[in-house]
Amino acid sequence: MIIAPSLLAANPARFGQEAGRAERAGADWLHLDIMDGQFVPNISFGPAVVAAVRPHAKKLFFDVHLMCSKPEILLEPFAEAGADQITVHVELGEQVESLIWKIKKLGKKVGLAVNPPTAIAAVQPHLEQIDMLLVMTVNPGFGGQSFIHECLPKIQQAGAWRRALWNNGAGASGSGAGRYSTGRERKLPYRIEVDGGINDQTAAECAHAGADTFVAGTALFRRRNMAAAIKQMRKILQDNDPTLADLKV
Ligand code: DX5
Ligand code: ZN
Repeated sequence: MIIAPSLLAANPARFGQEAGRAERAGADWLHLDIMDGQFVPNISFGPAVVAAVRPHAKKLFFDVHLMCSKPEILLEPFAEAGADQITVHVELGEQVESLIWKIKKLGKKVGLAVNPPTAIAAVQPHLEQIDMLLVMTVNPGFGGQSFIHECLPKIQQAGAWRRALWNNGAGASGSGAGRYSTGRERKLPYRIEVDGGINDQTAAECAHAGADTFVAGTALFRRRNMAAAIKQMRKILQDNDPTLADLKV
């Protein structure tokens, strides 16, 4: 289970120190929300901020979430700024295929995001090319919103497609055998990330539905003791990990 605090909820005057705080608190990834004021009705920060934050959290995996209408002009600047993964939205339509290849060509991991109103079927043609599927659990653009429970069946569907891909032999050999390990070292076809309104309660619901990567802004950065908050969320996730359920009998 991956826990990714979202820097959008941190004090913008101290983004570097806040990223360092997340690393020391035991976070796995740092989630970076990039908003252009067009794809979503808000503006956040650009490659220069990501580059400035990078030295403060050298060990964290930088998960860059592009909520932008013209991501093609931003891929290289964010790759150079220190992104480890770049996520684009399936709502961009026809250009998604070429964006996926451009991100791969930059040697970065690829994420594909789907908004609450968008049918999950929209991502199906791309599932074998991506490293992570991001099921948005709020309408993108702002932190601090309430979790949309109608998104839970989309997580279950994504989990079912992943199991089917796995059973058909998908998933390159290599380190980090996935949940459905059959003794042969195989990676998960793709991770399932949730983002928006994630706290201990909704994280538990998402884990039960099949998610394995959890973005949380308000629930983590607004806590004085972030280490305790992350430890608590990790415990709850382990207690709600459906693949461990049979180990508990
Ligand atoms: C919303 C962003 C989220 C947001 C999460 O568009 O993609 O990453 O920052 O913040 P919380 O956890 O406060 O909902
Ligand atoms: Zn996000």
